[in-house]
Parts: sequence; C-alpha cells; structure tokens
Amino acid sequence: MSERRVVLIGYGSIAGDIAAALLAAREPGYALAVLLRPDSPSRARVPEGIAVLTALDAVATFGPDLVIEAAGHGAMRDSVPGCLALGLPVLVSSIGALHDEAFFAELVAIARKKGGRLLLASGALGGLDYVRAVRHAKQLDLRYESRKPPAAWSGELRALGHDPATLSQPVTLFSGTAREAAALYPQNLNVAAALALAGPGFEATGVDVVCDPAATGNMHVVKATSEFGTLSLEIVNRPSPTNPKSSWIVGQALLAAVEQHFAPVVML
Ligand SMILES: NC(=O)c1ccc[n+]([C@@H]2O[C@H](COP(=O)([O-])OP(=O)(O)OC[C@H]3O[C@@H](n4cnc5c(N)ncnc54)[C@H](O)[C@@H]3O)[C@@H](O)[C@H]2O)c1
Repeated sequence: MSERRVVLIGYGSIAGDIAAALLAAREPGYALAVLLRPDSPSRARVPEGIAVLTALDAVATFGPDLVIEAAGHGAMRDSVPGCLALGLPVLVSSIGALHDEAFFAELVAIARKKGGRLLLASGALGGLDYVRAVRHAKQLDLRYESRKPPAAWSGELRALGHDPATLSQPVTLFSGTAREAAALYPQNLNVAAALALAGPGFEATGVDVVCDPAATGNMHVVKATSEFGTLSLEIVNRPSPTNPKSSWIVGQALLAAVEQHFAPVVML
C-alpha cells in the first residue's frame, strides 16, 4: 500500500502534534506537506521531510488524500474554499468560522459542485455522537457551558470592571445562542459551533460563558434533555504545553479523525 498523502494548513501547536504522530506511523505511513502563508514565521519550525507549500496550485501538485486545517479562522477563509474546489476532503478544526451562514453555505456549495468534503473535527469536545442522535428530537433542550479560569478572559473581565487577579466569584460573561457566542468570541468558541452543527443548529443551541476563579482547566459542560432521555457531560481539558490557548487533546482528536478517515472500519 502506498503512503497516505496529507497536507496540514498551519504549523502551530496542534499541527505539530499531528505531524509528529503521522511521521512516526508505519504501514503504510504518511507523506506530509504544510501549507503556510509565504511570510509565516512557522516555516522555521517545520521539520525536514515535510514539504512547505505556499499556494493552492502547489497543494494540487502534491495531490493529498486529505487536507487538515489547524490554523485559525483566517485560514478557513484563505485556504479551505480553494482546497474544497480541488475536490479534496478537508478536516477542519476552526469550526467557529462556520457561524457565518453565507460562508458556510459557500463551502457546502463548493464541496457539492467539485466533489470535496468538509469534515468537522470534534476537537476539544466529546459526546457529539449522542447530540447528533437527538438532533431531531421534538422536545430537545441543548445547552453548553464554557467555564475557564480568569487568565483565559482577562481582557473581557477588565472591560467589565473586574480585576482578573483578584476575582473571587464566578462571572457569567455571556448567555445566549451559539450563533451570537461564536460571532462574539470566534477564537474561543469553536466548541460551541461544533455542538450546534452536530445538534439542532446555531439558534437552538444555548451557550453560557463563565469565568471561574475555581476552574482548574478549560471546562466544557453539555446538557441535553429530550423525550429520549438526558445527557450530562463534563470535560476538563489541560492546555497544550506549546500553546496555552488550545487544549492539548485537540491534536489527538484530529489524529483520531485521520485514523477514521483512512480506516476500513468506521465508528459514526
Ligand atoms: N475545535 C476545537 O475544539 C479547537 C480547539 C483549539 C483550537 N482550535 C483551532 O485550531 C487553530 C490552531 O490552533 P493552534 O493551537 O495550533 O494555534 P497556533 O497559534 O499554535 O498555530 C497556528 C498556525 O496556523 C498558521 N496560520 C495562521 N493563519 C494562517 C493562514 N491564513 N494560512 C495558513 N496558516 C496560517 C500560523 O502560522 C501557525 O503556524 C486555532 O486557531 C483554533 O481555531 C480548535
């Protein structure tokens, strides 16, 4: 069997974790390339043996079996439409960008027309299989709470007149729909967007963003009630050692998705 060919968009903390694991994999192994902006400082971090590409035509020439976006919302707009237009499957982590209905519709239209496929990573969250199963329930109530320590929201706290260093009680920064949350905090709420897209959509998914001095990590709480039963899920993620803004598990979640993409047996 020949090597699987993968293009990573971005080479930061998450892509670095993915690349390290894929380069170590054998039978059949992976040939990797990284798509970066021409002036990207990340180029210096890309190890030998991984091709650096700076334009879409180079992606087409490399001929990937799979493209993985781990680069942020700018890259979703810069590169994902073009990769879908090449007819490629694109696994994306920056799902919050899809709160923009027009942009999401554009990606779906390109994928339909050109044969590409937009694959949404579960990322820092779990339980999306259950949420998908209840998405058409008649009496569904789905709510997501993000609970993070003050350091994660210091700018927002100061804007509300709180000192992040001396905060003693939890502060609710936001309560509303997943669409409003993703638009307000696009970089922080990829998880809310993933939940909304697995479930009943951005308007019907409730979100609370809480800053809690007692939180020991990035905590995600999902509650779903419907005629089928209840779900109560709590995940506490440790930050990535190389980027405290991202949860360490995200690279592993993307790797699990890569395995599923190429596997003869798939768990849906
Ligand atoms: N779904 C989730 O649960 C989840 C969780 C954490 C992070 N994320 C997403 O993953 C992204 C990457 O996280 P990270 O910790 O690796 O970030 P990082 O800052 O360590 O790395 C980002 C990389 O992307 C590159 N980049 C930025 N803009 C680009 C563009 N337009 N084109 C190509 N490359 C570009 C940067 O040069 C850098 O190499 C985040 O921005 C976030 O949107 C998703």
